[in-house]
Amino acid sequence: MEPAVNGTKNVIMAAAEAKVRRVVFTSSIGTVYMDPNRSPDVVVDESCWSDLEYCKNTKNWYCYGKTVAEQDAWDVARNKGVDLVVVNPVVVLGPLLQPTVNASILHILKYLTGSAKTYANAVQAYVHVRDVAVAHILVFETPSASGRYICFEKMLHRGEVVEILAKFFPEYPIPTKCSDEKNPRKQNYKLTNQKIKDLGIEFVPVKQCLYETVKSLQEKGILPIPKHVEDSVNIQ
Ligand SMILES: NC(=O)c1ccc[n+]([C@@H]2O[C@H](COP(=O)([O-])OP(=O)(O)OC[C@H]3O[C@@H](n4cnc5c(N)ncnc54)[C@H](OP(=O)(O)O)[C@@H]3O)[C@@H](O)[C@H]2O)c1
Repeated sequence: MEPAVNGTKNVIMAAAEAKVRRVVFTSSIGTVYMDPNRSPDVVVDESCWSDLEYCKNTKNWYCYGKTVAEQDAWDVARNKGVDLVVVNPVVVLGPLLQPTVNASILHILKYLTGSAKTYANAVQAYVHVRDVAVAHILVFETPSASGRYICFEKMLHRGEVVEILAKFFPEYPIPTKCSDEKNPRKQNYKLTNQKIKDLGIEFVPVKQCLYETVKSLQEKGILPIPKHVEDSVNIQ
């Protein structure tokens, strides 16, 4: 909470003092979609905000912190006359720059190491890290860009994620069973990426995001390549 909220306010105030032309703030889809009272027919777009009470009651401190941070960013920017544009990415995948595993990479890694024995009955949208970077540049460089920009390529059920992973990487113990065998399979909710698409972005397909994530984990030595696969690659 503290670095997210105070850090954001500090940056917007520093930007106002330095009279920077435009601030692009990396928010999150977590500030947009966490609202249990929204009807499933509603298309989730940039006008939607997460319900702070719901985030608090469900102890979802990441979404709570990001929502307060983004709301404060808008307030400070308005008061100080800062030109603020916000990017709201979903789960970010793709090659890692940093040596450590962050939360979004763990989301995939757990399906390859055997630590997740089942997959959840849940849906999630995904985006390639390079597209998130492109989105930041586009909203920075396009003079008419304003407000918030939801940034994602595609939404998948976890069952689809493990299927794609298993097709590319059958050598890992990827779960084949859902943890929830009672309820019907969760359906995608309606989420739009039209606003950022209108700025000209062409998203990397989610299958490629997943493939590149795993390859990067292998190259960085975070995910060992099973011995028999390594041997067969060497022989070929
Ligand atoms: N990853 C996603 O799926 C995703 C999705 C939507 C939005 N976002 C947003 O994208 C941004 C980056 O996320 P990420 O996944 O790249 O996170 P990450 O890998 O955990 O990186 C966080 C970065 O923030 C820095 N940091 C953390 N606490 C700090 C503090 N108190 N003061 C200064 N710097 C601090 C860290 O510095 P050190 O390297 O020095 O530790 C690190 O560089 C965040 O705002 C996140 O909310 C991420």
